[in-house]
Formats: sequence, C-alpha cells, structure tokens
Amino acid sequence: MKKNRILFTFLVLAVFFSSCNNKSDEYIDPRGPDYAGSESCIQCHQTQYDMALKSAHFKATAPAISGNVLGDFDEKNHTFIYDKDTKIVMEKRNDSLYQVLYKNGKEVEAHRFEIVFGTKHAQTSVYWRDNNTYELPLSYYNAINSWATSPGFPADKPYFDRKVVRDCYACHSSNISSRNVNQNPDEVNFLSAEVEDVIDKKTIVYGIDCERCHGPAKKHAEFHLKNPHVKVANSIVSYKTLNRQQKLDACALCHSGNDGMKMKSRFDYKLGDNLSEFYRSTRNPNDTTFDVHGNQFRLMSQSKCFIKSEKMDCITCHNPHENASKNLASYSKICMSCHQGLKHNATTLKTMSGSLLANNCVECHMPKKMSNAIKFQISNSKEMSNYILRTHKIGIYPAK
Ligand code: HEC
Ligand code: HEC
Ligand code: HEC
Ligand code: HEC
Ligand code: HEC
Ligand code: HEC
Ligand code: HEC
Repeated sequence: MKKNRILFTFLVLAVFFSSCNNKSDEYIDPRGPDYAGSESCIQCHQTQYDMALKSAHFKATAPAISGNVLGDFDEKNHTFIYDKDTKIVMEKRNDSLYQVLYKNGKEVEAHRFEIVFGTKHAQTSVYWRDNNTYELPLSYYNAINSWATSPGFPADKPYFDRKVVRDCYACHSSNISSRNVNQNPDEVNFLSAEVEDVIDKKTIVYGIDCERCHGPAKKHAEFHLKNPHVKVANSIVSYKTLNRQQKLDACALCHSGNDGMKMKSRFDYKLGDNLSEFYRSTRNPNDTTFDVHGNQFRLMSQSKCFIKSEKMDCITCHNPHENASKNLASYSKICMSCHQGLKHNATTLKTMSGSLLANNCVECHMPKKMSNAIKFQISNSKEMSNYILRTHKIGIYPAK
C-alpha cells in the first residue's frame, strides 16, 4: 500500500515534469529539426505545391472546420434514425459542428467534429476525449450523398467508443506524436497493465505532405536558398535513383493493406528504406481476396502486366502530386504504350467497335469491385450498402 503511494507520487511527478517541458503553446513539428514543412517548398517548387495542395493526399486528414467537412448540417438530410426514440442529428452550433444524440426528443450527448479523414469517396470524423480521438458513429458517403453508419458501426444503436489509434494517422497524416502515459516504465511498472497511449493534440501534421513522401528536406531547402545558382538537387533522396522495389515501397507503405506484421511505426519509414523492415504482409501473394480498399499494391502485383513487364510501378499511371485522373481515356494511352498492335477477338469486338474499345481499357480490365472491408448502413435500413472501388488487378474479366 505504502509502496503504491510512493510509486503514485513518482507518477504524478513524472507527469508534472513532462507537462512542464511541453507547456508552451507554440507549434512543434513532432518530426524534429530536419523537417522544413511544405510551405517552405513553395518558393522553388510552385508547380508541385499547387497540385499537391488540391490532392487527396494533402487532405487525407484536416481540421474539421467548415469548408473541410462534407455533408448536410441544416437541410433535411441531417438526421439518422436508429429507432423510434433514438436519433443522431448533425448540427452546427456557433462555429462548430456536432453529432448530437437525442432520446425521446431530449439531447443526451453531443460530440464535436475535430478531425476529418478523407474527401473522395467517404469522410469519417473523430472527436477528442481524454487525449485520444474517437470515431463519430456517422460518416458521409459521396456515392449516396448522405450520412450513413461509419464502417463497422451498428445501425440499431449509437456507438461512441471506437478509438481511432495512431495507426490510422500513420497512413492518413504526416505525423502525430503519441506517448505512453507510463513514461518511466521502471519506476511505475505496477501500472503497466492499464497503460495507454495518449495522443498529443498539438503535434498533428495534417495530410500527407511533401516530406512524408520525400523525407526530411530542411537541409535541402537551406542549401538551395544559400546556393541559388546550383540547379542539381542537393541533400534529398532522389526517387529517380531508387531501384524498383524501393519505388514500389514508397507507395506500398500505405497502399498494401494493414493486416500483416508491423515491426516499426510507418512514421519512421523514409524514402529509400526497405519496407519489409517496417511492415510485412503475412498473406500468400496469390490470395484472391485482397481488398480493393487500401491494397492497390497487392492487387497490381498479381497482374501479368506487372509481373511480365518487370517495370510497371505506381508512377507508370499516377502523378504522385495529383489525384487519380477522372479521364479514363488518359489511362488507355498508358496501356497502349505497352500494348501496341493489340488485337481483340471477334467476340469482344462485337461488344464495342475498335475505336470505342481503345478508350475503355480500364472499364473492362480494371473493373469496379465491391470492398469486403468497408460496408455501411443508411438510416432506417436493415441492409448493408457496398463501397465500390476499381480493382488494380489488371486482367480479363467476364463481361457484365
Ligand atoms: C531554394 C530553393 C529550394 C527550396 C526551398 C526547396 N527546393 Fe527542392 N529542389 C531545388 C532545386 C534547385 C532542385 C533541383 C532541380 C529540380 O529538380 O527542380 C530541387 C529538387 C527537388 C527534388 C527532386 C530531387 C531529385 O533529384 O529527384 C525534390 C523531391 C525536392 N526538391 C523536394 C523539396 C521539398 C520537399 C522542399 C520543401 C521542404 C524543397 N524541395 C525545397 C530547390 C529548392
Ligand atoms: C503515408 C501514406 C501514403 C503514402 C506514402 C502514399 N499514399 Fe496514396 N493515399 C494515401 C491515403 C490515406 C489516401 C486516401 C486519401 C483520401 O482520400 O483521404 C491515398 C490516396 C491515393 C490516391 C487516390 C487519390 C485520388 O483521390 O484520386 C492515389 C492515386 C494514390 N494515393 C497514389 C499513391 C502513390 C502513387 C504513392 C507513392 C508515390 C502514394 N499514394 C503514397 C496514403 C498514402
Ligand atoms: C495501411 C494504411 C491505412 C490505414 C492504417 C488506414 N487507412 Fe484509411 N485509407 C488508406 C488508403 C490507401 C485509402 C484510399 C484508397 C482506398 O480506399 O483504397 C484510405 C481511405 C480512407 C477513407 C476514405 C477516403 C476518401 O477520400 O474517400 C477513410 C474515411 C479512411 N481511410 C479512414 C481511416 C480510418 C478512420 C482509419 C483507422 C481506423 C484508417 N483509415 C486506417 C490507408 C489506410
Ligand atoms: C504521395 C507522395 C508524394 C507527395 C505527397 C509529394 N511528392 Fe514529390 N514526388 C513523389 C514521387 C514518387 C516523385 C517522382 C516522380 C517521377 O519520377 O515521375 C516526386 C517528384 C518530385 C519532384 C521532382 C520533379 C517532378 O515533379 O517529378 C519534386 C521537385 C517534388 N516531387 C516536390 C514535391 C513537393 C514540393 C511536394 C509537396 C508540395 C511533393 N513533392 C509532394 C512523391 C510525392
Ligand atoms: C509497362 C507495360 C504495361 C502497361 C503500362 C500495361 N500492360 Fe498490360 N501487360 C503487359 C505485359 C508485359 C503483359 C503480359 C503479356 C504476355 O503475357 O505476353 C500484359 C498483359 C495484359 C493483359 C492480359 C492479362 C491476362 O491475365 O491474361 C491484359 C488484359 C492487359 N495487359 C491489359 C492492360 C491494360 C488495360 C492496361 C492499362 C490499364 C495495361 N495492360 C497496361 C504490360 C503492360
Ligand atoms: C496501369 C495503370 C495503373 C497503375 C500501374 C496503378 N494505378 Fe492506381 N488507378 C488506375 C486507374 C485507372 C484508377 C481509377 C481512376 C478512376 O476511376 O477515376 C486508379 C485509381 C487509384 C486510386 C483511387 C482509388 C479509387 O477508386 O478512388 C488509388 C488509391 C490508386 N489508384 C493507387 C495506386 C497505387 C498505390 C499504385 C501502385 C501500387 C497504383 N495505383 C498503380 C490505374 C493505375
Ligand atoms: C469491352 C471490353 C474491353 C475493352 C474496352 C478492352 N478489352 Fe482487352 N480484352 C477484353 C476481353 C473480353 C479479352 C479476352 C478476349 C479477347 O482477346 O478478345 C481481352 C483481351 C485483352 C488482352 C489479352 C490479349 C491476349 O492475346 O492475351 C490484352 C493485352 C488487352 N485485352 C488489352 C486491352 C487494352 C490495352 C485495351 C484498351 C486499348 C482493351 N484491352 C480494351 C475486353 C476488353
């Protein structure tokens, strides 16, 4: 008992000292002094910056201020009914947005949108509670222009307790520092069973920024500021000089699923590192059930194009600073750069003329597929709705 009290005093002191160290309110880049921040790249890389600013990568996480949050807050379409007594209403109060739970017409709890994840197909949001973030029970889906249950959330009762852990941020942000509440494990290990990570609110670096992909670039920026006549890049990892696996790893870091073995935090990965020291898929590479959500790398790896060309990577088709093009014909040109003189058989040609076919490679060979990982339910519905993305397994599929 007495021992516990001494240990408790230690803990209080530890917490006190650690909070003294970070008590200033100024912004701290949790990545340390080697990082310059995206804004410092503008003056020399305006083109890349302008593109990236509008990209889904840059917006992968953002503060939930109006303008960043999708969905209706004051129209008809802002209520989700769980049952005749229970509903959640999306509400704007002063400058903040909330999901408010009502039971029999009375407000029970209200949670504020703090950080949003995503913009393209869906957007989910989190609120802060006790130094951690928790997912709000309703998300917005562009395919239905409406609110529906967050993936995996029940549609018969509201649920506010799903913690959004640092792992989510490792793919959706450039950094967030978390620390173990138990900072001095030797002194306070009697608590270890209950120890949890807490997230440091001030340290989040929103979105996937320049240095998340390119690695720390402060030295690079400083060098070129001092040496404006030097036109050859200094002090930065060059993507061009990487081998194929390193190039693939740069994207596979976040685009090869999350069900494998994690050895080190994704945040510690830098361009040129070997991904298998951080994350390794434990599944058979020939598994036919890789999900269209979040696993473009594994699916692409199963394509003959990838295996036989021995050179295809993500950059073959994507500009890393821009969103995926909506113009599918532009991809057909890329397909045809490897598939010149291609001839479809008579049966295929019957479905479409040769000239139409030429613009539609993707529609037939990378068809849209249902995700098994993500499903959702709309208000007052017993049925699951499907989340649909294009597969990256390029192949021959039966006609629809
Ligand atoms: C004072 C000017 C300056 C600033 C600031 C600057 N760069 Fe550069 N950067 C250059 C020059 C010059 C090159 C070489 C020519 C080129 O590729 O554009 C270069 C090249 C690069 C390359 C290509 C490297 C290669 O060889 O493939 C990357 C990536 C890059 N910079 C990233 C950044 C990032 C990220 C920032 C911000 C943190 C940044 N730069 C800030 C001047 C600058
Ligand atoms: C740090 C994690 C991370 C890395 C590294 C990363 N991505 Fe992404 N990428 C994401 C996330 C998260 C999204 C979804 C963003 C959103 O919609 O909110 C995304 C979205 C995309 C999209 C869809 C954009 C759109 O809406 O059209 C493309 C294409 C893409 N990534 C390609 C790449 C390529 C190519 C690379 C490698 C050069 C890469 N990504 C590296 C995490 C990452
Ligand atoms: C291993 C990396 C990874 C992890 C971990 C991860 N995501 Fe994602 N997430 C992605 C990628 C890549 C995409 C976009 C492409 C896709 O759907 O395949 C995405 C898409 C999304 C989208 C849709 C974005 C849009 O613009 O349509 C949301 C919302 C989202 N993730 C939320 C989360 C949340 C919440 C967590 C944690 C519970 C999480 N993600 C964990 C990689 C990841
Ligand atoms: C999703 C990862 C990703 C992000 C985010 C990203 N880049 Fe890049 N960048 C790349 C890759 C991959 C290449 C190599 C492209 C190639 O070789 O075709 C590249 C190439 C470059 C180059 C060389 C010239 C060129 O355009 O190919 C510069 C300069 C550059 N990036 C600067 C930036 C700056 C500045 C930002 C932030 C505003 C940024 N990048 C954000 C992945 C990224
Ligand atoms: C970097 C070159 C390259 C690119 C780009 C490319 N492919 Fe391929 N593709 C190949 C090679 C090589 C093969 C294997 C040919 C063989 O087996 O002889 C192949 C095979 C195929 C096959 C046969 C698949 C099977 O399972 O039998 C289809 C279909 C195909 N490609 C469609 C496409 C489409 C559609 C695109 C564009 C979205 C594309 N390819 C882009 C190189 C490429
Ligand atoms: C052969 C061309 C090709 C290659 C190679 C390729 N992609 Fe794509 N990607 C596409 C096409 C086509 C789309 C769909 C664009 C659309 O529907 O608007 C797409 C869409 C995406 C999306 C958005 C998903 C969605 O439906 O919104 C992500 C994320 C993505 N690609 C990531 C990657 C990553 C990571 C790699 C490398 C592992 C990669 N892609 C390699 C052609 C390619
Ligand atoms: C209407 C759907 C459709 C469109 C559009 C389409 N394909 Fe195909 N493709 C097929 C079918 C079905 C097959 C298998 C039967 C055949 O060869 O006609 C096939 C076969 C192939 C093959 C394998 C041929 C072989 O000899 O093994 C390649 C490569 C290919 N397509 C590439 C492309 C490219 C590149 C484009 C765009 C220029 C394209 N396809 C457009 C449906 C389509």
